[in-house]
Amino acid sequence: MLKTTAAVSRLGTESAFAVLARATQLEAEGRSVINLGIGQPDFKTPPHIVEAAIKALRDGHHGYTAAAGIAPLRAAVAEDLHKRLGVEVDPGRVVVVPGGKVTMFFAILMFGEPGAEILYPDPGFPIYRSLIDYSGAKAVPIPLEEENGFAFSAVSVLERITPATRLLILNSPANPTGGVTPRDEIDRLVAGLEAHPQVAILSDEIYGQMLYDNQAHTSLLQYPAIAKRLILLDGWSKTYAMTGWRLGYGVWPEALLENATRLAVNSHSCVNAAAQFAGLAALTGDQTPVREMVAAFDARRRVVVEELNAIPGFRCGMPGGAFYAFPNITGTGHSAKQLEILLLEEAGVATVAGTSFGDYGEGFLRISYANSTENIREAAARMKQQLSGA
Ligand SMILES: Cc1ncc(COP(=O)(O)O)c(C=O)c1O
Repeated sequence: MLKTTAAVSRLGTESAFAVLARATQLEAEGRSVINLGIGQPDFKTPPHIVEAAIKALRDGHHGYTAAAGIAPLRAAVAEDLHKRLGVEVDPGRVVVVPGGKVTMFFAILMFGEPGAEILYPDPGFPIYRSLIDYSGAKAVPIPLEEENGFAFSAVSVLERITPATRLLILNSPANPTGGVTPRDEIDRLVAGLEAHPQVAILSDEIYGQMLYDNQAHTSLLQYPAIAKRLILLDGWSKTYAMTGWRLGYGVWPEALLENATRLAVNSHSCVNAAAQFAGLAALTGDQTPVREMVAAFDARRRVVVEELNAIPGFRCGMPGGAFYAFPNITGTGHSAKQLEILLLEEAGVATVAGTSFGDYGEGFLRISYANSTENIREAAARMKQQLSGA
């Protein structure tokens, strides 16, 4: 018998990948499946970005790069943050990594161990909880509520902080709910955090450019009061439709920078060099494709919410960001998991049970609208028929 660690047996997973696998299997058997389960844009990476990667390969960028990323890319990240958010960031604090997930992994490895507590959103991206459990720290959920548009409540976060709290994970705009935390609530949260200087903050802003209704993104980077303990997680996956390129970055405070760089050296050495040149072209090139993609998501968002509210037993608020709707499905009489299975197996519609994102996700389904309007309408018709006939 092989004896692996207790820690590795505590790792969770992302059920969206299991749903995708089952959907693919059903399709291979000849069934028609509309996939509203997947968390990635249905757009292709803009051509000028692809060309930049091809050119990098042709130009001979085939070797290792600096562990934290090529200098022009780190500078372009700092410049982009300045342009978008009005903040000054030293490019030396940017660590380029293979995807958004890696910054999360590093931050949780740095702070999580038995005896420590880490606060995370529930419902939230499942990897937060998985990694906290892996680290041996106590995972303390911050419940996000439908009545509050799934925004963080400063009071609810602050009342969960104890002397053992080491890290607070925030995510706005959010997966799986599309919730956006308003600036005044973040102001209150940051003010409250001044009383807890031992708490580091990991702000996952990977959907920071996917906001609707002319809302401006509020970044935790905009608060000097917490600058010395803030880790920003961002990347190219969602904004530039680059999930398969594996490219992300963290902005680390001085005190943690060496740790982050060492973790990079120990785990992956550096990110694929051609992908880094692609990331550079993405940041410095024309941003029209980003605006067009967000406009398409906005139009679909309205369709999806209208359609979901017409399904018996569903109730869905308007998400403010990302590309997910998170309808309340308690009126169907099914649990979230039962409904996920029923819709996939019987109606040919892939969704993800809210419980895949934490216990507070019971009674909800995650619907990704990274699919065509036509497919969204067809999926809604199938769901309506399934649930009317039930
Ligand atoms: C909230 C959130 N953070 C991070 C990630 C990870 O992004 P990446 O694919 O760049 O690792 C995702 C991907 O779904 C996400 O939804």
